[in-house]
Amino acid sequence: MARFHELEVTGIQKTIRDAVVVSLKPKDDDAEAFDFIQGQYLTFRRDFDGEELRRSYSICAGKDDGILQVGIKRVDGGAFSTFANEELKVGDTLEAMPPMGRFYTELDASAGKNYVGFAGGSGITPVLSILRTTLAREPRSTFTLVYANKGVATIMFREELEDLKNTFMGRLSVIHILETDAQEIDLFTGLVTEEKVGQLFRSGFLDAEGTDTAFICGPEPMMLGIAAGLKAAGLAEDQIKFELFASAQPGRLKKRVVSKEAGSTANEAQIVVTLDGSTRTVSASKELSVLDAARSDNLDAPYACKAGVCSTCRCRVLEGEVEMVTNHALEDYEVEKGYVLSCQSYPVTDKVVVDYDQ
Ligand SMILES: Cc1cc2nc3c(=O)[nH]c(=O)nc-3n(C[C@H](O)[C@H](O)[C@H](O)COP(=O)(O)OP(=O)(O)OC[C@H]3O[C@@H](n4cnc5c(N)ncnc54)[C@H](O)[C@@H]3O)c2cc1C
Ligand code: FES
Repeated sequence: MARFHELEVTGIQKTIRDAVVVSLKPKDDDAEAFDFIQGQYLTFRRDFDGEELRRSYSICAGKDDGILQVGIKRVDGGAFSTFANEELKVGDTLEAMPPMGRFYTELDASAGKNYVGFAGGSGITPVLSILRTTLAREPRSTFTLVYANKGVATIMFREELEDLKNTFMGRLSVIHILETDAQEIDLFTGLVTEEKVGQLFRSGFLDAEGTDTAFICGPEPMMLGIAAGLKAAGLAEDQIKFELFASAQPGRLKKRVVSKEAGSTANEAQIVVTLDGSTRTVSASKELSVLDAARSDNLDAPYACKAGVCSTCRCRVLEGEVEMVTNHALEDYEVEKGYVLSCQSYPVTDKVVVDYDQ
């Protein structure tokens, strides 16, 4: 199965000085594979001086917009984001895997729910896709966006958000929180911290009891503060959905997959890998992650970030035990079912059976 497909760049639009919105068109045969769910991302690969880099970018378009678009903000000294902002042009071809990710909730046209989205900087991209799709497909639902940026000049999609407020009159509220630029309401200046989230609830800008689901995407410290603020206001864990773009910290606590075998001290493991319908056994050092072990034997096991953030490398452990050292992507219920991030999972038992197809 081809993991990467060619996408034609059909448009590049500067949204702010340091960010572009890239429109992409799959080949006709691939159109179905790129039929995304709101909140999902694409993983691109490109060679930089002979080294293959893979980078993920969230789709910012809504499902009903009839277009595939990602928003890429330039990171200082960053390889792919600088290339996309400075070199990429209309007519070029990019290689990407079909959409992935589970940063969404199921929509129901008859539902009348209240959603809150928190986005920091480029973290707006999946939240924009979610709010566009939700407001279009759940005509009785509302969405409040709390959008954190340094200043007015760095707000991606500012005009689009104003237009959406008019399109979905009375159903979309946008609260801009700016780190440095002063605003009429003091509460809207500074960082979005746990305390600030509490103040937004207490001042009536947000309503905890009326909130069905909260989406958070942005830098990790901001996400953790917001999640703490939401929980303090009474939201339950399963009402909060996260998407982390980059990992600055070592990760959550280590999670272990239920063992069916006792471990041994041997340093070599037999890893039985099912991928794309066929099964092969790989012998590899326990020092290698399951992903690296599979790839060292020329298996095309999927990956993107290799940092436990994106879940592209997810597989299910059917037998044996692995230790997952970092997990920013899988939900607890997935871990309980035996799913692991293979880039972060190291064999503990001498035999491990994993399946990438489940
Ligand atoms: C699921 C997911 C979705 C995402 N969605 C988006 C999105 O919609 N929009 C978006 O803009 N981003 C998104 N990201 C982040 C994106 O994937 C990239 O991480 C980001 O663009 C940086 O990639 P880069 O190649 O430009 O930077 P990199 O080259 O990876 O560099 C990152 C940083 O490391 C520093 N660095 C690099 N090499 C070295 C070195 N040798 N020594 C010291 N420092 C170094 C750079 O200066 C830079 O500060 C997403 C990430 C994930 C996981
Ligand atoms: S490759 Fe991203 S979590 Fe493993």
